Parts: sequence; C-alpha cells; structure tokens
Amino acid sequence: MDTLECIQKRRSVRRFLDIPVEMEKLGNILDAGRLAPSAGNLQNWGFIIVRDPANKQAVAEACARQMWVAAAPIIIVVCGQSVKGKKFYGERAEKLYNIQNCAAAAQNMILAATTQDLGSCWIGAFDEELLSKACGIPAEARPMVMIAIGYAAEKPKTPSKHLLEKMAFLEKYGNRVADINAVLGYTSHHVRKGITKVKEIAEKAHIKLKQ
Ligand SMILES: Cc1cc2nc3c(=O)[nH]c(=O)nc-3n(C[C@H](O)[C@H](O)[C@H](O)COP(=O)(O)O)c2cc1C
Repeated sequence: MDTLECIQKRRSVRRFLDIPVEMEKLGNILDAGRLAPSAGNLQNWGFIIVRDPANKQAVAEACARQMWVAAAPIIIVVCGQSVKGKKFYGERAEKLYNIQNCAAAAQNMILAATTQDLGSCWIGAFDEELLSKACGIPAEARPMVMIAIGYAAEKPKTPSKHLLEKMAFLEKYGNRVADINAVLGYTSHHVRKGITKVKEIAEKAHIKLKQ
C-alpha cells in the first residue's frame, strides 16, 4: 500500500476483534511515532502502551463515557513533555509546538497502523487529570492524544469530507479556485491516477498487439 492509498483507506475504527496485535506491528507503529517531525527536533514526547485490562478500563473511564475504548487490544497515550518544550521555545511551545509535535507523531502512528491492516481511532475527549492518574503521567508532561488500535470488527463508512475547492486557497486566504484539478494540472493526484490507468491499458493493448 503506498502512502496516498493508506491515507485514503484510513477510517476511524471503534469496534475491534478480540485478537492481539503482533509485537512487530506495534513496534512499527511506535517507530513511526518516533520518526515524526518535531519543532527543533526536540522529540519531547512519550508514548505509553496500555494493554493490561484493568489499566485499559481506567483509561476508558477517563474518556468521557467512551467505554468502547477498553475493548481495544492496545491503547497508546501520546504525552507531550511540556516542560522540555517550554525551556526551548517558551510560550509558543506551550500553545502550539508541543501539541503539533504530538499530533504529528499520532498521525504517523495511525498511518502505520492502517498500512499494516490494523484499525485505529484518534481519541481527544478525555479528562486529563483522570488519564494522568491512570497512567502515572507526571506534572511535567501532558496527555495529548490517545490512539485505540486493533483488528477492525467493523467497516466504517467514509464520513462526508469537504471538497478541496472549499479549503484550498490560491496565494491569499479565501481566494478559492473553482476547479482545483485544473490548477494543479499534472501534479493533481486524480489526474495522475487517470494517466497511470490509461498507460496500463495502453501497455496491455500493446502487448496483445505484439502477440
Ligand atoms: C483532535 C481529534 C479528537 C478526536 N476525538 C475523538 C474521540 O474522543 N472519540 C472518537 O470516537 N473519535 C474521535 N476522533 C475521531 C473523529 O471523530 C474522526 O476522525 C472523524 O469523525 C472523521 O472520521 P474518519 O477518521 O473516519 O475520517 C477525534 C479526531 C481528532 C482529530
């Protein structure tokens, strides 16, 4: 699966099969988080792996009644090391970089799960105090994102997604383009996909003609 395919395939999964996640796959997921970009390459994050049933229950209870979380084979809690960020970048780290660093790591992990045929869900609705207590997160760190991971027991429908035309602006904020594909030309993913398909058909026809 290439990266674009992986991004298109990913869906939030909230029901999981009672099958453990292979350690090798978990290792690849954690490594994908480790390799994410971070401001000044600070890498000021910590990834807590939660798989003990009692601990998963405590973590789920911190998630605003989202008890399905407890049934996920693995939960990863992504924590930002807030004090370290603040030491280097002050208020900007507190308000932005620490959150962005953890979000980059979390999205890398989610894509690594998808590409290994695992389902996952980003969880942001939790009580920080309860979660910190459940996972022993000290005051100098802050839980930012939780990711539930496992083999999917559901095939979620693609939720409606806004068209690119609604969010892509040319040069200035708000400067919408009526036909973004026309602007992107050959670099457009859709156009490239079409060209690849036509090439494949032409190549097959060429082989047939030669036979
Ligand atoms: C910042 C953030 C917080 C989220 N929090 C939750 C959550 O607490 N519970 C949940 O079930 N899904 C949560 N999600 C997942 C979204 O509901 C989901 O991404 C959205 O509905 C779009 O569906 P998709 O992921 O299949 O594209 C969160 C996603 C993000 C990015």
